[in-house]
Amino acid sequence: MQQLSAKTSHFTDSVIRRMTRVSMKYDAINLSQGFPDFDPPAAITDRLAEVAHKGPHQYAITWGAPNFRAALAAKQAPRMGIPIDPETQIVVTCGSTEAMMCSVMTVANPGDRVVVFSPFYENYGADAILCGAEPTYVELHAPEFTFDEAELEAACAKTNTKALILCNPSNPTGHVFSRAELDVIARLADKYDLWVITDEVYEHIVYAPHEHVYFASLPGMEQRTLSCSSLSKTYSMTGWRLGYVIAPAEVTDRLRKVHDFLTVGAAAPLMEAAVAGLELPQSYYDELTALYTHKRDLFCGGLRERGLTFTEPDGAYYVMVDISKFGYASDEEFAEELCRRVGVGGVPGSCFFNAPENRFIRFHFAKSDEVLIAALARLDNWELMAR
Ligand SMILES: Cc1ncc(COP(=O)(O)O)c(C=O)c1O
Repeated sequence: MQQLSAKTSHFTDSVIRRMTRVSMKYDAINLSQGFPDFDPPAAITDRLAEVAHKGPHQYAITWGAPNFRAALAAKQAPRMGIPIDPETQIVVTCGSTEAMMCSVMTVANPGDRVVVFSPFYENYGADAILCGAEPTYVELHAPEFTFDEAELEAACAKTNTKALILCNPSNPTGHVFSRAELDVIARLADKYDLWVITDEVYEHIVYAPHEHVYFASLPGMEQRTLSCSSLSKTYSMTGWRLGYVIAPAEVTDRLRKVHDFLTVGAAAPLMEAAVAGLELPQSYYDELTALYTHKRDLFCGGLRERGLTFTEPDGAYYVMVDISKFGYASDEEFAEELCRRVGVGGVPGSCFFNAPENRFIRFHFAKSDEVLIAALARLDNWELMAR
């Protein structure tokens, strides 16, 4: 038999999704894969019921239904502080996952380098590799998970560096990049002529006093930014697979073609129903922030009461718990044992780092209060994890 492709030969299955299966095996409360256990807003699900009977059920325009793009532009333009032409600057994709893959494919040639902060959401390495590009990792230093300017500049200055991937707010660290940090990235993007591909799926889950600054809103950055995001987290609808890229018209023109060959388009009836979400008033986003602020305080407060050391997030819904005191050589073993002995599923932190790192377990708190309280009660038994 012929060999399968070399570039996919080092791929492992997603550790995050594997931990969901391990949690199920041990009947553990699954705080690993980051999706909410509550429903999307009723405005969206009610509309879906109507759409089921009225359609559309056939292909939409490949780069997104016109009313979805119009509603998205109306929602995002004032928030991002840039004009967005729904006709020429938006591609609707199957989640931010496809948005990111399409964006990297659109800007990078085989042999190009892409700067990725580490720890990072595990898809970015794969995005680069599938495009034949090489990731250059720049460490985000714990516990604040901030970068060193000189280290970032050294990465940007490497030959053939074409783009930088910025996940803000960051998964897994919960770091929200400050305006000052973003200004540094903008200066370097300008100096080294880089595309900046953002992943802003947690744009509406940011805890005061932190604020989300859209990278494309920085002076001069609109022209070099491909802003990726999705409806998955904002409207608690990760299974709908609706995301998008907002980019300058010339870039969008190319993105559309890549997207067309990859997936043809996002699901037409789901786009139609989701317009009801895009049209929700500001109060919806305020309530979402209040909901997650409450969950963060509940979960982090519980971890603190149990004497655990962790990084309190500025945004997104993840907590990195430091497990070094338990003395495990492998965080994967720790995560499996945590499911088996304590009954709580988390993600071994090593899968987010490019360098060897066994110090963290990531939990998410996008769960009902009952589930979070039950998980914390189980975590009373941390001592079962002693070696
Ligand atoms: C940073 C980040 N980007 C993208 C995704 C996936 O988003 P989508 O469901 O829109 O593909 C996730 C999901 O956890 C994520 O955390």
